[in-house]
Amino acid sequence: MTATPALFAHIPPYAGDPILGLMDAYQADPRANKVSLSIGLYFDDAGRLPVLDAVRQAEEALLREIGPRPYLPMHGLPDFRAGVQRMVFGADHAAVTAGRIATMQTLGGSGALRVGADFLHRYFPASEVWVSDPTWDNHRVLFEAAGLKVHTYPYYDAATGGLRFDAMLECLQGLPRQSVVLLHASCHNPTGVDLSPAQWDALIPVLRERELIAFVDMAYQGFGDGLEEDAFAVRALADAGLQFFVANSFSKNFSFYGERCGGLSVVCHDRKDADTVLGQLQAGVRRIYSTPPTHGARVVAKVLGDTQLLAGWTQETAVMRKRIRAMREQLHAALHETFRGERDFGYLLSQRGMFSYTGLSESQVDRLREQHAVYLVRSGRLCISGLNSGNVQAVAEAMAEVIKSA
Ligand code: LMR
Repeated sequence: MTATPALFAHIPPYAGDPILGLMDAYQADPRANKVSLSIGLYFDDAGRLPVLDAVRQAEEALLREIGPRPYLPMHGLPDFRAGVQRMVFGADHAAVTAGRIATMQTLGGSGALRVGADFLHRYFPASEVWVSDPTWDNHRVLFEAAGLKVHTYPYYDAATGGLRFDAMLECLQGLPRQSVVLLHASCHNPTGVDLSPAQWDALIPVLRERELIAFVDMAYQGFGDGLEEDAFAVRALADAGLQFFVANSFSKNFSFYGERCGGLSVVCHDRKDADTVLGQLQAGVRRIYSTPPTHGARVVAKVLGDTQLLAGWTQETAVMRKRIRAMREQLHAALHETFRGERDFGYLLSQRGMFSYTGLSESQVDRLREQHAVYLVRSGRLCISGLNSGNVQAVAEAMAEVIKSA
């Protein structure tokens, strides 16, 4: 039998994902001294991906109650969805008690962004999306894949390692009505540069007056200042009576990456609109993957719904947050010492969450990886939570070497 002509010959090879590709390269790297500071994973001080106690206890309890696994509804497990609303908005928030938030269980924060993006494309076909410059590499890809046009608004100030807030505000003030503005609730990915509460308070009237549609991404709740504090922006938007989208994720704060547990919440005008929006979000999910998986959602719902487990988990998020801060301080101290104050690394202390933008060039990042087995994202993003007391000094020395040799 002769072979048929190659069917797939026209397909270009995949260039690889700028973040996930590095994770694969790191895993294949045989060097014993390698350090993963690329992908956003939280490691403990021994360099292990933790299994949180609250999660373990919830899973053990669930194993004892193991039962049938029917399909979940398209919008997900009711207790999980209620838990998302309590976490994101606060149990007593008027928008929650009025029933005017449509919440879906989604496949991680990415799933929430995509389900929301599909909805926006279908029901706001004239709207275009504005993301911060820079933003998480996958934001643009996700929204463009849903058919939306993506632009950037000014955000990071390379000169100061801070925020170009006035330029950001000016840009948003000039956007067409119903433009979608993607905002990071806290622990901005990739820069670690956040708006202060006062800056959020100045931004919200612009969103309202220009009738912009905020889409808030909250992937790191608990890793900045605390579970409640990190939700400040979301709650301030809801307090101001805005109608908007929130994607939230339990990947990091539950150390639950592979379980793909996230939520999409759409704050609506009233309960009737929320029911309609929820219905169309369900239709959207049915078109993609039908229904979400059960296991992770049951674990999250159990932890969020049990007073003792919730208190334990809250404590565990505080431990992770404090360790990240300690690593910021140790890396800063080591670099400050090496450069004897001749170069300012203060950005490491002012930026928050898992990531810092180091300002290292692509060639410096390549040299770090090739010569020192230290992996950063090529944009210069460094994942602070990959540092530990055993590797921070070596990382500081490697960074100093590539900075000095540039
Ligand atoms: C990251 O930015 O490293 C994480 O959000 C993981 C991912 O999917 O990119």
